[in-house]
Amino acid sequence: MSINVAVFVGSLRKASFTRMVANSLIELAPPGLACRLVEIGDVAMFNDDLEGQKPAAWERLRRDVAGADAFLFVTPEYNRSVPACLKNALDVASRPEGKNAWAGKPAAIVSVSPYKMGAFGANHALRQALVFLDVPAMQQPEAYIGDVAALLDKTGKLNNDKTKAFLGKFMADFEKWATALGRADTDGGF
Ligand code: FNR
Repeated sequence: MSINVAVFVGSLRKASFTRMVANSLIELAPPGLACRLVEIGDVAMFNDDLEGQKPAAWERLRRDVAGADAFLFVTPEYNRSVPACLKNALDVASRPEGKNAWAGKPAAIVSVSPYKMGAFGANHALRQALVFLDVPAMQQPEAYIGDVAALLDKTGKLNNDKTKAFLGKFMADFEKWATALGRADTDGGF
């Protein structure tokens, strides 16, 4: 039985390097991982006052999170942290209080930067939130993809075998992590 992985991209722009890397990760995933992108660009900023009349995109996101077995977060770094759209998605699907749709499901994080020194801050800021959300995030291998523009060709595909091998192994290890950490007693369990 395959593991349903909801994939979140922390960039909203069309030509996003991060989305290109996410698409490559989906292509490199072993057959046991059924990966699906979950869009977050239309998810209104969390505001508890809206719970009475929930935006449709909140309900869709909460359903997508509740229905997944595991999560793959692929994110750029904004000001050494997580972009607001991704943090907002975490917040929206963690509410209403007592209904944290993320809880207990395994995750992996790939952070991306066009700079040599970027991507660490976003990765670890995300990990901090995931601790509180009760999402066990794979610890090894770590994936900080720096200098990303040099790793992609004009069509947005990875242009070298070393990076493909690294990310392919990352996804294979994520399958092992998700299999080991998946809880059969959650809605999305397997
Ligand atoms: C950035 N960028 C950036 N890069 C980085 O490595 N560390 C950082 O702290 C930041 N901070 C930051 C803040 C804001 C508001 C923006 C818009 C950008 C640059 C960022 O990595 C670059 O724009 C990437 O191309 C964004 O990822 P996508 O959209 O290509 O996936």
